[in-house]
Amino acid sequence: MLSRSSKKEQGTVLCSQYLDNKKEQRTVPCSFFWRDLVKFLDLVKTRQSVRKYLDKPVEREKIERCLEAARLAPSASNSQPWSFIVVDDPKLKEAVAKETFSQLISFNRFSLQAPVLIILISERPGFLNKVAEAIKDKQFSLIDIGITAEHLCLQAAEEGLGTCMLGWFNEKGVKKLLDIPRSKRVELIITIGYPESTEIRPKKRKSINQIINHNSYS
Ligand SMILES: Cc1cc2nc3c(=O)[nH]c(=O)nc-3n(C[C@H](O)[C@H](O)[C@H](O)COP(=O)(O)O)c2cc1C
Repeated sequence: MLSRSSKKEQGTVLCSQYLDNKKEQRTVPCSFFWRDLVKFLDLVKTRQSVRKYLDKPVEREKIERCLEAARLAPSASNSQPWSFIVVDDPKLKEAVAKETFSQLISFNRFSLQAPVLIILISERPGFLNKVAEAIKDKQFSLIDIGITAEHLCLQAAEEGLGTCMLGWFNEKGVKKLLDIPRSKRVELIITIGYPESTEIRPKKRKSINQIINHNSYS
């Protein structure tokens, strides 16, 4: 956990970071927070689903930073109901990619090109969360999975990598290939790699007027 604790000297700020439950302190530039806040919307705009990849390996440290961003995502009651499998062994990766399309439904065929696949598994929420989900009739864990997936994809964008979240795949086949117990759910597969093109497409989104109301539904 990185927290802004005290101002040490002008231009720097002392931060506490918890790594493996050990507290470390380091000094980072004071502008760090504000600079990154300003850039956030730009980062959001550069994240897009990438469906064409270069035949170029992805550095392991970049994947690790993406996973770190995913690990730090918030979740209901901090339950962190997720686990990840990084699939980068070429043969295995090809086999998993082949579970995301068929002859009939082939729109995910591009996943064969991605050098890395990240499998996102939802882990059972703890007892308290299960009770909360039942009372509130909400699947908090799926909300959590969406947040952690987007953290990962945004960090990938920051690293110059392209991603695409895949919700369409043969879950049974993926579980078999990766020894995932039948009781678990594979919620998403994220393709990662260097994009073939660095062009940022205009976003196709509903307009602000269509989706935002103030102080009442309509
Ligand atoms: C939960 C989820 C499942 C998705 N599944 C697929 C998929 O199976 N195949 C695919 O090509 N894109 C998939 N996408 C990507 C969306 O089509 C894409 O995010 C959306 O069209 C917006 O485009 P953008 O990501 O380029 O901004 C998925 C996205 C989400 C969030």
